[in-house]
Amino acid sequence: MSEERKTIYLCLAHMSEKGLEQKYVKEAFDTNWVVPLGPNVNAFEKDLENFVGENKKVVALSAGTAAVHLALLACGVGPGDEVCVQSFTFCASSHPITYLGATPVFIDSEKDSWNMDPDLLEEAIRDRIGKTGKKPKAIVPVALYGMPYDCDRIMKIADKYDIPVIEDTAEGFGSRWKGRVLGTFGKFGVLSFNGNKMITTSGGGALICADDESKNNIMWYATQARDAYPYYQHSAIGYNYRLSNICAGIGRGQMTVANDHIAHHKHVQRLYEEFLSDIPGIKVHKAPNADYDANFWLCTITIDPSVRIKGQENAYKTVIKNAVGGAAGVIHAVDSPVTDCQPNENVEALRVFLLDHKIESRPVWKPMHKQPVYKNAPAYVNGVSESIFKIGMCLPAGPYVSDDDVRYIVDTIKESVG
Ligand SMILES: Cc1ncc(COP(=O)(O)O)c(C=O)c1O
Repeated sequence: MSEERKTIYLCLAHMSEKGLEQKYVKEAFDTNWVVPLGPNVNAFEKDLENFVGENKKVVALSAGTAAVHLALLACGVGPGDEVCVQSFTFCASSHPITYLGATPVFIDSEKDSWNMDPDLLEEAIRDRIGKTGKKPKAIVPVALYGMPYDCDRIMKIADKYDIPVIEDTAEGFGSRWKGRVLGTFGKFGVLSFNGNKMITTSGGGALICADDESKNNIMWYATQARDAYPYYQHSAIGYNYRLSNICAGIGRGQMTVANDHIAHHKHVQRLYEEFLSDIPGIKVHKAPNADYDANFWLCTITIDPSVRIKGQENAYKTVIKNAVGGAAGVIHAVDSPVTDCQPNENVEALRVFLLDHKIESRPVWKPMHKQPVYKNAPAYVNGVSESIFKIGMCLPAGPYVSDDDVRYIVDTIKESVG
């Protein structure tokens, strides 16, 4: 390993070559629009509306999590309700359901796309109606690592039972189903511009809405839900979820390179598919067929339990002290290095081996129905997400990952086997 090699991160924010982000941010300062509204917010929303198409409207918000929250609220989700949500996802798809006093009903995944299984979805809807006498209030499929879900089947089931769909495309910015941008099929589409996403505003998100009325309603809730009086009068509980004009300036610059970023993620995926094709037991997760046009936000592999990775005997021997895989924030200390549902030892050994070679990787998301915090939530499972969790791993992708980096990552994976 060369001494000079820099750490290859999973996915890093990457600014436009022309520095347009700084130009728009400077404009915000120069014109004193240093607030959560203004010209950058409006222009960023227009850029996003042009990007997603289908005559949709977009509201810029402070986070993708806020977008999930407000979409649920606008679907009428409240205390005692249930929402069908993909189990194989990041926690922000389901946590906002609980913010509203409702209960997530977790739906397992299909083997090929790793996303919401339409058969299980329909089984869950029928069963919940039978058990509770009420329909679930919304359906939340997730574009995991940018891979589309089966939009045709999920929308058909949603229409049959007349349940609104909130597409969580936080990871799927620019992914398409049969050529149409994901997030434009349901009643709402969620976007995230967190630092590690396809484009970034440092932190931020957006909600794709059907029309101006829906956009207006979301904006009202995002700005503390005020009624038209000279003083602050409230007839509903609102939130402070609007995107800042500074962050929106970054977003405007990022929109000029969004298509380049997506193209690069797809290029990196193609390289992994080519270079990893000859390692027995290691498989790159690919699109099931041409209907699924994934942005490949992160590239993922599975590692067969038979593959022996150097150092495997030491996996899970020490308690982790820091957040793994670029995760931000504070983590709670734990007493034991193991849980009753975790990636296989060879997966953990590969993560450590790669890290020792300055390559950041991460296990795939642990399914929500296996999370202690959701132990009492109903779940409709087929074993798919749990089994992928045990063998799956995310590899670096994004504009900063060069062809040479992919070769180095693949060579390091080859070196780890044995
Ligand atoms: C699937 C999914 N949903 C929602 C979010 C929430 O987005 P944010 O981090 O912008 O709140 C994220 C990512 O962060 C995500 O991966």
